Amino acid sequence: MDVFECINIRRSIREYLDKPIPEEHLNRLLNVLRAAPSAANRQPWKFIVVTDTEKRRAMVEHCGGQRFLAQAPVTIIGCGLTEQAWHGMGGNKTAGSEDVDLAIALDHLTLAAAALGLGTCWVGAFDEACFKKLFNVPANVKIVALTPLGYPKDKASFRAFAEEARKALDEIICYDSYQK
Ligand SMILES: Cc1cc2nc3c(=O)[nH]c(=O)nc-3n(C[C@H](O)[C@H](O)[C@H](O)COP(=O)(O)O)c2cc1C
Repeated sequence: MDVFECINIRRSIREYLDKPIPEEHLNRLLNVLRAAPSAANRQPWKFIVVTDTEKRRAMVEHCGGQRFLAQAPVTIIGCGLTEQAWHGMGGNKTAGSEDVDLAIALDHLTLAAAALGLGTCWVGAFDEACFKKLFNVPANVKIVALTPLGYPKDKASFRAFAEEARKALDEIICYDSYQK
């Protein structure tokens, strides 16, 4: 599957099979995280691989009841190491790169997962304080996003987006200067 196909078929998966992920596939995906670009190559990240049943259940509670987090055999939590991040985004010395860096790495993961038949779903609706407590994340580390990882209940979930689900190209692209 080439990169265009991965991008095309990746969808947010919210129903998972109770089926383990082969270790070889999981390791391949973890190495995808490692390969991602980051500002000044700082790699200001740490990823928590959650497999523990009790913790998977507890995550649901801290994500407004998103039950698929307990269904999927694995969840990857992307943590940003603020102090290691590059500061100077857009010329602003106080703006750290960790959100962007983590987003790139996790997005690479979601695309590579789709190539292996594994579903993901970005989760931004989580209670960071509760997650920090549950996973022992230090105060100076920011949880940026997380995604479950597992086999979709319905294989047909891998499909191109519905046309109406995206803005039209001429609405989002402009040439040579910003146009409203
Ligand atoms: C930053 C971010 C946060 C998101 N948070 C959630 C979430 O908490 N729960 C959820 O079910 N989907 C979440 N999504 C998934 C979006 O709803 C989804 O990507 C969007 O509707 C497009 O659908 P698709 O991913 O199937 O193409 C999030 C996506 C992003 C990029």
